[in-house]
Amino acid sequence: METATLDAKADALAARGLPGLWYVAAKSVQLRSDEVLSITALGRKLVLWRDGAGRAQCVEDFCPHRGAPLSRGEVIDGHIACRYHGVALDGTGTVVRVPAMPNCPLEGKHAIQGYETFEARDAVFIYIPTAAGEAAPPIDLPYEFTDPNWEGFLCSGLWDCNYQLAAENTADPMHGIYLHADSFTLAYGEREDLVRIDPADRGFIITRVAQTDQNFDWCHVTCEGSTNFIRLDIPYPAAGGPGGPFRVLGFMTPIDEHSTRIFFWRNRQVSGIAREAWRFLFRAFFEARHWEVLEQDREMLEDVPYEARRREMLYQHDAGVVRLRRIWRERAKQLLLAEQKDAAE
Ligand code: FES
Ligand SMILES: [Fe+2]
Repeated sequence: METATLDAKADALAARGLPGLWYVAAKSVQLRSDEVLSITALGRKLVLWRDGAGRAQCVEDFCPHRGAPLSRGEVIDGHIACRYHGVALDGTGTVVRVPAMPNCPLEGKHAIQGYETFEARDAVFIYIPTAAGEAAPPIDLPYEFTDPNWEGFLCSGLWDCNYQLAAENTADPMHGIYLHADSFTLAYGEREDLVRIDPADRGFIITRVAQTDQNFDWCHVTCEGSTNFIRLDIPYPAAGGPGGPFRVLGFMTPIDEHSTRIFFWRNRQVSGIAREAWRFLFRAFFEARHWEVLEQDREMLEDVPYEARRREMLYQHDAGVVRLRRIWRERAKQLLLAEQKDAAE
């Protein structure tokens, strides 16, 4: 394939959302036992439920009998049962029962795609495989998820913009002092600056040069592991209570090319009594403030046309955005070339 064509195809694939990654599918509380949850991720309609052991299961939202959406069905004996004629499937997408027809040959058939799931910190993750249909690799989660000294709250929202805009926004720390100038902490710091990029665990860190611990000064973009997420700190004044800076861990799940489900954990490093103080302060005070900031991001990003990237005039501060796009394009190219190779064999 010619380079220009390959680049264009890779960009289109990246815009839809890259397979070969773990994504957050839902908050754990959304997945109640004996209920069925329908979601869309990377343009795929999926259905989730909990099996008899309470484990999250996920398959494509398509009944292999006549195509009815399984999300209209119900959970029976830990399996998802179609409402139309009762065919039941397990989380691998294998038909386990055809109640209307004893000894039906459909039983035991692997009929639809199943997705591996993982649950951590109040969220259900699913692995979206590439066209090769590989098994899920180990999930790369932020270290804060396994450290009991970090306490976080998960919030999620629907943004009517491509996920790349949401991710690029976090790789752009300069917007903090402007877009969020009237927020609790982001009003402080230099309004003129430069940024620097350094390699970091499974990605890079973009840092503002002229200030430290004042505002949204840096962002760690994890974009080369089995999950994509961002980490950033928002310094808090003494009035902000215990636990040091307010750490945001952000995951973005593309719903389709035009909308994104964001999952942001708001964390602090607290234990014992400080943890209780933080939990109280968060609910009473910071939660609403943090939502205000997120809403400022959402409103702005929903009004930036995706096509804007064809005529942008970037400058030094956009180094993180450029880096991110390059990584997405490279990853998408690798996937396309692997598909091409598989097709040729
Ligand atoms: S369409 Fe689902 S059981 Fe018939
Ligand atoms: Fe922002």
